Amino acid sequence: MHPATLPDARLAELIRSSPKAELHVHIEGTLEPELSFALARRNGLTLPYADVPALRAAYAFDDLQSFLDLYYAGCEVLRTEQDFFDLAWAYFQRAAADHVVRVEPFFDPQSHTARGIGFEVFMPGLLRASRRARDELGISCGWILSFLRHLSQDDALRTLDAAAPWREHLVGVGLDSAELDNPPGRFQRVFAAARRAGLHVVAHAGEEGPPDYVREALDLLGVERIDHGVRASEDEALLERLARERVALTVCPLSNVRLRVFPAMHQHNLPLLLERGLRVTVNSDDPAYFGGYVNDNYLAVFQAHPRLGPRQAHELLRNSLEASFADAGEIRAWVARLDALWQAAAGAPA
Ligand code: ADE
Ligand code: ZN
Repeated sequence: MHPATLPDARLAELIRSSPKAELHVHIEGTLEPELSFALARRNGLTLPYADVPALRAAYAFDDLQSFLDLYYAGCEVLRTEQDFFDLAWAYFQRAAADHVVRVEPFFDPQSHTARGIGFEVFMPGLLRASRRARDELGISCGWILSFLRHLSQDDALRTLDAAAPWREHLVGVGLDSAELDNPPGRFQRVFAAARRAGLHVVAHAGEEGPPDYVREALDLLGVERIDHGVRASEDEALLERLARERVALTVCPLSNVRLRVFPAMHQHNLPLLLERGLRVTVNSDDPAYFGGYVNDNYLAVFQAHPRLGPRQAHELLRNSLEASFADAGEIRAWVARLDALWQAAAGAPA
């Protein structure tokens, strides 16, 4: 199915042009500095930065919290339906350039409702963008409502209630924000309610938090995928379980390096997770803040790890499609397209 070896440039081009799914991207994390300034101007707001380079220069993070402080402050410019449309449409166009055929973006309602911006403002904007992405770019989209774990379960329950009129437009719920001291177990009731409503469930776990948080997300929340999950490598029994149960991990290499989960890309454990038989996928998390979209993430990790080759690239791409919450028929068609492309590459002269 895959050529055993390929020159680096050919492999990079094959990765870039392959159909892929992006299963871990926060739509608020796709807000590029240029759009921040444009929206601030449109909404009569003044950003506390002189210009785009000054804002970009502020994107130097020590850890997850130092990033989240900027990320939530960045949301201030999102005020109107048109703002949310512009944000999401810019992302979908960028994703299409990376040959993303399926995306399951997170959105954080509580970072907007807390500012007085309701579902009736952001949902129509996000949905208008995803409909246009489907019609004009051929991108299939399933929105994931993500609860902020630094807030209470009651706040999350109110958010789930407020989302009820939009239920048919959601594919699932997730859990994000500051992980340390906010274990998944605090959100059991709201995740149970989401599951009863027929939603898929995922959670960030094992990004900065310990391997036990990954276990809690599986056992207490019933999640179907783990977002990040890289710290699972510290726990042998958990690694074996994740491999055995075929739990997908949505790994975000550039994010992990920028938030200092790993000191450098060549120290990232993605190759080890793959070797241990885990169902790893590659994603961008907050591409406007971490220096790259999904293809940049693939290429960064392949460049830093010579032991990753065509076999691993094909596996990661296929995992992304198969771990999505899209219809089985859609997934089959994308995997067939992926395999046909790789078959042709295997037959082509090097
Ligand atoms: N919200 C946006 N990006 C996040 C991340 N990497 N971890 C937790 N919460 C987030
Ligand atoms: Zn994330």
